[in-house]
Amino acid sequence: MCGIIGIIGKQDVTQHLVDGLKRLEYRGYDSAGVATLINGAIERRRAEGKLENLVRALEAKPLAGDVGIGHTRWATHGIPNEANAHPHATAKVAVVHNGIIENFQELKAELTAKGHVFASDTDTEAVVHLITAYMDEGLSPKDAVAASLKRFDGAFALAIIFAGHHDLMIGARRGSPLAVGLGDGEMFLGSDAIALSRLTNRVMYLEDGDWAVLDKSGVEVFTEAGEAVERPVRISDFSDAAVGKGGYAHFMLKEIYEQPQVIGDTLTGFINPALRTITLPDLPFDLSTVTRLTLIACGTSFYACQVARYWIEKLARIPVEIDVASEFRYRDAPMVAGGAALFVSQSGETADTLAALRHAKAHGQHILSVVNVAQSTIARESDATFLTYAGPEVGVASTKAFTTQLVVLACFAIALGRAKGAIDHEREAQLVEALVEVPARASEVLNHDGRLKELAHEVAKARDVLYLGRGTNYPIAMEGALKLKEITYIHAEGYAAGEMKHGPIALIDKNVPVIVIAPTDELFEKTASNMQEVIARGGRVIFLSDVPGAAKLGNLAAATIALPQVDPFVAPILYAIPVQLLAYHTACIKGTDVDQPRNLAKSVTVE
Ligand code: F6R
Repeated sequence: MCGIIGIIGKQDVTQHLVDGLKRLEYRGYDSAGVATLINGAIERRRAEGKLENLVRALEAKPLAGDVGIGHTRWATHGIPNEANAHPHATAKVAVVHNGIIENFQELKAELTAKGHVFASDTDTEAVVHLITAYMDEGLSPKDAVAASLKRFDGAFALAIIFAGHHDLMIGARRGSPLAVGLGDGEMFLGSDAIALSRLTNRVMYLEDGDWAVLDKSGVEVFTEAGEAVERPVRISDFSDAAVGKGGYAHFMLKEIYEQPQVIGDTLTGFINPALRTITLPDLPFDLSTVTRLTLIACGTSFYACQVARYWIEKLARIPVEIDVASEFRYRDAPMVAGGAALFVSQSGETADTLAALRHAKAHGQHILSVVNVAQSTIARESDATFLTYAGPEVGVASTKAFTTQLVVLACFAIALGRAKGAIDHEREAQLVEALVEVPARASEVLNHDGRLKELAHEVAKARDVLYLGRGTNYPIAMEGALKLKEITYIHAEGYAAGEMKHGPIALIDKNVPVIVIAPTDELFEKTASNMQEVIARGGRVIFLSDVPGAAKLGNLAAATIALPQVDPFVAPILYAIPVQLLAYHTACIKGTDVDQPRNLAKSVTVE
């Protein structure tokens, strides 16, 4: 949610800032801007809308300078226009910010009373003017920042440059992520290592509350309390290839097609194929003592938790509570002593999920997480982390992160079942065998891409689309609806197939495509009856089933896709793929911006 970058370089930095912003655009694309120092004075270029508008502004009016900061915005305070675009600046200070300064109104009132004139509706401008006010009182840039940081409520990652100081840049983080990149005679700040992947692979992740003073030769890091501290330097493995489109039309399509590979990579981290067992990383507590589990996440990651609830309750026989992070945190849920809570997040930075994690921790829960970014805040604040090996996910709509989350959660459910004595080795071995087959079956599912593209023409004409499923495929119905909504802007809902008759069936007519997700499992006949109810009312069904299911009922539906037959345990992982492809092709037909849908951002670091 907003991407920031900063460079103290050896030569002109603007092109590198723009390159970095290209990698950060998934964090927001309401406006973009850069600021540099030219002969000690702050100069800015900013543009409303996508980065390409800033690039045009820079072509029209180039910007030199060996120190600079850049920003790509996801608007919170103030509409997306040029005046609200970052960097915000006074004659002395320029700032880019990711997060929300919650007490900006009070700060703004105080500073306005002192004669400061604000030029935007953003919360960020309070940061710029407060630092400037302290410098006006005679404080050095470093002391002015230290004094200002103590006064901010809320979340922030900041990169700050100062007029007249070509060899100084200050970064700070609380809540929002920030990384320092170490170069050779040049230094960098970025919202994540992806932003810095062309500049350096040596990265230092700041801890919450840290702030960092950079010059060309190095960095000094301070804790929130102002104590100097060392943070480890890690080698980032984000290559340029991993963050490119690799010949695909969109990141989303590339990421859908990567699924067989990344599902396999993720499984390798958890499965012992010879023994046909699951191995989890070491945990600081005994899994067998867990009597109740809470699963928390947002959006697509929340749907992964919903699938996991079915798996864990069935295999481990313990009650599982699930909630979206933004609700869990504020509903004052009672938590049992010694209970465990598991947080699922692709980015590992989602503000709602992080706040819920801290809340559960404060109530004595063991904290587990499933994340795709090993160095993320959620990973660092967990007692144990299970990694998905999806690689960088750039398309705003989550695809490969979701299926790899499911894989990890499936492994966790098996391990918990074994630890609780609820499944024996033979059952574990069967489930492991089913999981081992998933990469190959996922490749077969991708063979249906052409047919799904044809069906997308029908979906693209609809105003509303319904998705139905039961059991572990009910969350897949909701995930399919979310994918369609977010990238095509077509209204869609996912329902438990059995709930249709309690209301939503009133929506059915020939203009509402109904996607029925029904592998041949123990609930197949029940879902089949619900499909008949839809057809009887003139609904046009797109039936996603397996070869035996299609043979049985395919003739009833307007269109049928027959996926490979698999153990029902792993079916939701595979059925996620056709709903992704259907949404993708519908979006292409409608001509929407697949990788950067309107109003969205990939890493949601505001609450
Ligand atoms: C939907 C999507 C979002 C994210 C949600 C949580 O395609 O990507 O719903 O799943 O914002 O993000 P993470 O998993 O990074 O916590």
